Amino acid sequence: MVAFPTETVYGLGADATNPLAVARIFEVKNRPQFDPLIVHVADLRQAEILVLKFPDLAFKLADRFWPGPLTLVLPKAKSIPDIVTSALPSVAIRVPNHPMALALIQESGRPIAAPSANPFGQVSPTTSHHVRKSLGDKVDFILDGGPCQVGVESTVISFTDGHPVLLRPGGLSLEEIEKVIGPVEIASPAASAPQSPGQLERHYAPRTPLRLVTQWPSLTPGQKVGLLTLLPPMDFSPFTAVEILSQSGDLREAAANLFAAMRRLDEQGLDLIIALAVPPEGLGRAINDRLTRAGHF
Ligand code: TXA
Ligand code: MG
Repeated sequence: MVAFPTETVYGLGADATNPLAVARIFEVKNRPQFDPLIVHVADLRQAEILVLKFPDLAFKLADRFWPGPLTLVLPKAKSIPDIVTSALPSVAIRVPNHPMALALIQESGRPIAAPSANPFGQVSPTTSHHVRKSLGDKVDFILDGGPCQVGVESTVISFTDGHPVLLRPGGLSLEEIEKVIGPVEIASPAASAPQSPGQLERHYAPRTPLRLVTQWPSLTPGQKVGLLTLLPPMDFSPFTAVEILSQSGDLREAAANLFAAMRRLDEQGLDLIIALAVPPEGLGRAINDRLTRAGHF
């Protein structure tokens, strides 16, 4: 088992063809067995070996966006043990866009099953330091590839119903995907919950209560409140701490900063974190999704 960098977040990886190694991941993360893992491969050819069929539209996406922050859910081949897929007949696959991740897959000659390298339900790590802090000596090796460039997890698209369905918004925007394959169905959180527990209502959460708002809230005097915001606020004075995700309002930069900013606020001993929703376009969709789940109690 080895923690390794990808362009999205750090993963906790093991040989996807070795059920015992994969079981260790569930144990270390305290992850429920019903939550399937993503299998990381070096290229499209290695992906093809792991699936029964690669629908044309899925192939188009893989061809255009791999390596990159896109996960495809496809009918699985027998070589993938049930523990990886929570006994689902499908497998989630992606080619990460990070030289160290690709080297790990190539050198080991194995597909690597890996969830994000954090305890289940908590904020995903975007630096090796985050991994060290939350998993400590439960992992034998952490490969340090610096901070993750994308900063939110991959976009998950399922083809198990024959047509493309968005299970999780992520580091590749829906707009870019639809430019290549046309309209994509958006799974309702309730419908996809049993299928894709990354859609669990409370997830990606700090310890401090977090409230997602679309407008300036009125604050209770005396409370220590932190603000998580895309752009600088007009008035800093009501807040004990402020995290600005992007001085220029750039949603890509904001996504890259999101999880580290949530962690910094979580370390301030605040009563409440208020997060201002970002525009629901491009990577804003993934940012609002993570903030919604972080705020769910
Ligand atoms: O960017 C990422 O995707 C990162 C890096 C490490 O690659 N990984 C990641 O893994 O976020 P994890 O385990 O935190 O999220 C995997 C998501 C979950 O929402 C899971 O339910 C979904 O993929 N998933 C995996 N296999 C699936 C399947 N067969 N059908 C539907 N959803 C699946
Ligand atoms: Mg995760």
